[in-house]
Amino acid sequence: MPVIQWTEDMSVGVARLDEHHRRLIDLTNQLGAAVAAGDTERVTGSVLGELIRYVYYHFGEEERLMEEANYADLPGHRQHHRTMAEHVRGLEQRFDRDPGAVVTADLHEFLADWLVNHIRSEDLLYKPALAGLAAVPA
Ligand SMILES: [Fe+2]
Repeated sequence: MPVIQWTEDMSVGVARLDEHHRRLIDLTNQLGAAVAAGDTERVTGSVLGELIRYVYYHFGEEERLMEEANYADLPGHRQHHRTMAEHVRGLEQRFDRDPGAVVTADLHEFLADWLVNHIRSEDLLYKPALAGLAAVPA
């Protein structure tokens, strides 16, 4: 199971959001490890649940800061978040019905790819706009 890593070139210039991204990567790696170890549905389910809750929390915080910075592409970015949030909501519902069918290596790969691509191709775009914000407490 490939482990993903946060690297300095993924920094969006706001310590709190970088911290969120590191936490999301960490939870995604934990999910990958749980799947690889063949952990019980209870363990994988609790990691997945924590990851999902953190995704919602993070999107909210990120959107709030983009709004504060008057980021011009907030509507487009919000749409990316919404699409992902809907996907994640679907996962939650499927997990409730049939955990074994949801928590798979494919799911981990999808989340890892989405996260790294989203940070690198969408989040980095708001970096210049958010640089104008007064220091955000970490
Ligand atoms: Fe984002």
